[in-house]
Order: sequence, then C-alpha cells, then structure tokens
Amino acid sequence: MRRIGILTAGGDTPALNATIYGAVQRANALKIEVVGLLRGYAGLLDPRLPHVLLNPLYSIIPELDPCKGGTLIGSSRTYLDHNSTEHLQTAGRHAAKLQLDGLICIGGDGTINGMQPLAEMLPCVLAPKTIDNDLGLNYPGEADEWQRPAGADGPTVRGVRNRDTLRLEDIINYATPGFATAVFVVVQMVERLRTTAESHHRIAVVEVMGRQSGYIALGAAYAQPDIILIPEVPVDPQQLTRQVSLIYDQQQNVVIVVGEGVQGLDGRELGATSPAFDPAGNVKYSGAADAIVGMLEKSLSPDLFLETRRFESDSSPLFSRKVGHTQRGGRPILFDRFAATQLGGKAVELLVAGYSNEIATLQYSTTEGFTFRSIAANRLRDRWGEIHPREVHPSLYDAGRMQLSSLGMEYLKPIFTRAVGADDVEYIRREVFDAGCLSNRYQSINSDIRRRIRYV
Ligand code: F6P
Repeated sequence: MRRIGILTAGGDTPALNATIYGAVQRANALKIEVVGLLRGYAGLLDPRLPHVLLNPLYSIIPELDPCKGGTLIGSSRTYLDHNSTEHLQTAGRHAAKLQLDGLICIGGDGTINGMQPLAEMLPCVLAPKTIDNDLGLNYPGEADEWQRPAGADGPTVRGVRNRDTLRLEDIINYATPGFATAVFVVVQMVERLRTTAESHHRIAVVEVMGRQSGYIALGAAYAQPDIILIPEVPVDPQQLTRQVSLIYDQQQNVVIVVGEGVQGLDGRELGATSPAFDPAGNVKYSGAADAIVGMLEKSLSPDLFLETRRFESDSSPLFSRKVGHTQRGGRPILFDRFAATQLGGKAVELLVAGYSNEIATLQYSTTEGFTFRSIAANRLRDRWGEIHPREVHPSLYDAGRMQLSSLGMEYLKPIFTRAVGADDVEYIRREVFDAGCLSNRYQSINSDIRRRIRYV
C-alpha cells in the first residue's frame, strides 16, 4: 500500500477527526500517503474529485486536530447505490485516477452498504462511527435471528432472541466513537433541566437521538432521570402515567428521558409524526418528547398538581426539550478520542494486512480491557443481506421500572468510568471565556482546508 483514500460518510460525530488522525498517524509510520476525499461518497462521485493530501512527506497537516469535533474533509448523506452500475463504475474509475491502493470509509451501516460493492474493485475497510452506538451485534449470530414471514416479500422482522442475557465479552463493537461524547452532552443537559424542574415543580421530558436504538437514552442514566424510555420497549401509557404520578407525588418534579424512536403499544413510532425520510432512507424524527407530553397531559390527574401549582398561571406543568444536534458536535471527550484514533489506526493495519470489506471493532473483556479487532462486514447482515441497527438488548433495561438494569450498569461502566480526561476539564476552564473569542471572528476549518483542496 503506497496511497490510500479516506472519507467520512453519514451524520457527523465529534470523533471523526480523531479517527482520521489515528489513521494518518499509522500511515505515516508505514510510509503510506493518505488522501482525504471531500464530502464522503459525494466526493468520490464528483467528476472533479476534490481531495486533500493529509500527510505530505508523511507528516500530518496542522489542520487535522483530533480534539476538534466534526470532520475536516466534510461528510454527506450521499451513498453509493449498489444497484447502480454507473455509480460503481464512476467510483472505481475515480479511485484509480487518484491511484488509491485502498480506501477507509468512516461511517455506519449506510456507509457499509456503499462500501460493499466498492470492495470488489478496491480493498476497503470501515472504521466505525455513530453517536447512536447501533453498529455491531450483541453477540455473534444475532443477525441470523431476523426473519421474513414465509412467502412474503415484506420487511424482515426480529425473530425470537437466542439469548436472554448478555456476556459483555461477546458484544461485537462494544461502543462506537461519538457515542460517549453524545452521552456526555446529554448528561449535562439533563442535570441542568433537573434543577429547573425541581424549582418550578415541573415534569421535564428530554428527547435524545439514537434512531431505533436506545443507547444514548440508557447512557443518560448517569444524570439520574426518574424514567428512561427506549425505542426497543413500547411505551405503555397506563404504566407511564402510574409511574409519573407516583414519582411526582414523592418529589414534586419528574425528569423523563426519551429516545427519539420510541414506539407506542401499537408499534407506531411516536416521534415520526409525518413519514419523512432523509436521502439515505432513514426516518426523520420530529417529536417523541412532545408526543409523551401530549399523552401525559391527557392522562395525569389535575389533582396531582393541586398543591404545587396553586396560584400558578395556566402554563402546563409539563415541558419537553430536545438535546438535538449538540449531541453530534463539539470537542470529543477522552474515551472517544482514544477509541477513534485506535480504530483509525487499526483500519490502516487491516488494509495493509490484505483485508477488504472488513470492519475495525472495539472489543471489551474484564481481563484485557479494550482491544481492537475486526469482523467481516457481511457478518452484520441478515440472511437477506440487510444490516439492522443494533438494539439495546432486553437484559440491559428494566422495563418494569423503566430504568437501566444492573447489567446495563455493568455495560456502561467500562466506557464512562474514565471517559472524561483532565484535559477535557482544563479545556473548559481555559477556553470557554477566553477573551480572544470576543474580538476574533470564528475561524472555520472549511476555509482553512479549502487552501489545500486539489482537483484532478
Ligand atoms: O444517526 C445519527 C443521527 O444523529 C440520529 O441520531 C438522528 O436521528 C439523525 O442522525 C439526525 O439526522 P439529521 O442531522 O440529518 O437530521
């Protein structure tokens, strides 16, 4: 390998630059050139092929900062259509034009789908990323549990689980870079909302990202919300009303964290109010927290608020807030920087070792801690070739208490116990109120990198 390409595809995460950095660092040691392709797969399809050499003379360009969120080479939700020969031929021709001997795609499940056909023309490896933490398997063979009802052409449905509990050692890709920082952001927001809910005796419903996976909602447990609702377990309005009434009665405020993809008992996604899809075919969620507020406004007895809200204006005791895209942005915390740089480096090693259509993974065991391995991308596919987002396994969540289970706590601890570094804290102390910010304009990485962009 003398020259490899790297691209970032799909929704961004705070750890993308760190992954790129890890890859370039490893490539420098192996005397491999790394070319950054601009805006994900869109750059590979662009006839002008915008690209940046990330390590001229095998030293990293100064713009590539592993502590900065986002991606200096840009990302897009443009995916290679594996059914389009035109797409594939163009991508293959362009990779040859850039003299690439291999390609690292930093992304999630949509990125793997684009990478698979490309891997037939060029060695390709995926370095995982997604704040949703849904890329991987709870245990080997989990993908085979998906079924398609006999004779039907319809969508695949989850069949019976082979395991009712988890061994943390078996989880394939324990956590994806970006997840820890997203949880860090959520925890701070929930903590802040708690004290305001307490002061005004209100019920706060906080919506977090994650699509159909409830990992970010689970991680929010560090902020001690009273109730956690995850997409994997349908919300029973009666159970929720009982639980909220009980807690409000005891402490005159309630904090509920809800994953954006949460479902009702009828299987309908409460937040997907209108069936909107992004270009990658993903549902866009618009209001899970609002739906929960609406549900509780109807079901809670007004008597519950008699004492606390007496002489208050007519405003509702309930309110909803979305953490939103702050989960995806900003400085990555130490855990993400560590996992991301190592996975980037591992991806380079995999290419050099001759792997293709392979995913670099983060594994955990109580004896060894975190290690970096890999898995063939096809092992994530079900029998029909589909990749499903990894769901929170039932043993990580206590559906009766609507809370994290004790195994859920064991799952989170290795990631978060030392996830924040001293430098993360020092960064806040030094940078947040830096007087220079008042007088200097924001210097965008997009302008800095523009000077280095080359075209063919
Ligand atoms: O997959 C990452 C993610 O941040 C999801 O958690 C969320 O639903 C989605 O992307 C939001 O996408 P967009 O930025 O396109 O609205």
